[in-house]
Amino acid sequence: MKLPPHLTIQKGHLHIGGHDCVSLAEKYGTPLYVTSEDRICEHFRDYQNALSARYDRVQVLFAAKANGNLAVMRTLAQLGAGADVFSGGELALALEAGMPAKKLLFNGSSKTKSELALAVQNGVKISVDSLDELHQLDAVAHEAEKVAEISFRVNPALEVPTHPKIATGLATSKFGIPHEQIPAAYREALACKNIRPVGIHCHIGSQILDMEPFARAAEVMVRTAKELAGMGVTLEFLDLGGGLGIPYHHDTDPAPTPEDYAKAVMPVFLAGIKAAGITPELWVEPGRFLVADSTVLLTRVNSTKKAHKRFANVDAGFNLLIRPAMYDAYHEVIVANRAAIPVTTEYTVTGPICETGDILAADRKLPELDADDLIAVLDTGAYGYAMSSQYNGRPRCPEVLIHGNEEALMRRGETLADLTGTMVRPPWQR
Ligand code: LLP
Repeated sequence: MKLPPHLTIQKGHLHIGGHDCVSLAEKYGTPLYVTSEDRICEHFRDYQNALSARYDRVQVLFAAKANGNLAVMRTLAQLGAGADVFSGGELALALEAGMPAKKLLFNGSSKTKSELALAVQNGVKISVDSLDELHQLDAVAHEAEKVAEISFRVNPALEVPTHPKIATGLATSKFGIPHEQIPAAYREALACKNIRPVGIHCHIGSQILDMEPFARAAEVMVRTAKELAGMGVTLEFLDLGGGLGIPYHHDTDPAPTPEDYAKAVMPVFLAGIKAAGITPELWVEPGRFLVADSTVLLTRVNSTKKAHKRFANVDAGFNLLIRPAMYDAYHEVIVANRAAIPVTTEYTVTGPICETGDILAADRKLPELDADDLIAVLDTGAYGYAMSSQYNGRPRCPEVLIHGNEEALMRRGETLADLTGTMVRPPWQR
């Protein structure tokens, strides 16, 4: 199986960033998420460089939902990233990670008034998803004696080749305002006393491997921007969202790079802003591409079983990685302690959760397995820990960050006390 450069096999053991996964699992226990900081930096620089080689006003915003660990966000902040935040919590994390408010965009299709107030208080721009929200925000900003700077989330009504649950710019999707209603929305925003429209935003979906839909979305966006310029709206930024996919099937999926993305999108963007006579900042919001392949989830085999087929029962399930159960997502798996041995036997790798759907990897050729073997699930840095839960009374596992020769915890494992810590005994049970 093809491996990215930060994953290597040395003396039969899988290594990440030069660190032996077997030793890491012994030291920290399993399950364990391990992330290569250098790999994230490399992806961020590639993304930034591909775009800024073609246009000098580019801001990369990390989609914080993909991986909300402060250490990851701090790394990205230090490289100059801002963030797409989708909740008051993500907004707070981004500020805590050292991202300046002016590099944040508060997105979301359902924000509370207190979340809107938090953004307004902190001077964070807001991508508004409906006219109802616009008027609520106007009132919130009025109350705070501030002017809220906004964009609208455009629904460009585009089909995209990805899992239907993660296509977000379909005409039928819950996100954004239909693109034909966008000029009217800006007209309404211009009439609001405490609102200043400064941007325009879209995001067409996630895990997209074909660059064409990105170009089509850019086309809709620059066309709309031109119309807005005619109405006297000066756009300071145009945000094309995230969505660049990664090759989860290492040997067969296409592996588009930020360079491929830029080649498809930038000519459309540049011609469009020229035609509109504007020079807005170009904002993008990659999540998955920056962090997914930086991380492995290490999980120990508890037992094996031969029933109608062979099962390897491991100690991580959809409590820690829900993507396979939720989207039928594919993640490569490697036996980290015997990575150089020929793969001979088909196994289905199942988690410890009491659900038939708790399968991390179905029907994979692996070496013959024993209890205590260590399995690495690859490409788990995006929407992995971020979507984890305590289902079945399982405390979440720790996360370790690799930085050159160093490694350290970036999140401790939860304990049984963390399961009960938020629970309150009702007075009649005292
Ligand atoms: N911007 C907005 C407004 C978004 O909604 C998203 C993702 C992104 C940026 C980042 O997209 P990315 O570059 O990561 O594709 N849990 C799913 C993915 C959900 C994505 C939701 N929105 C998964 O595990 O595949």
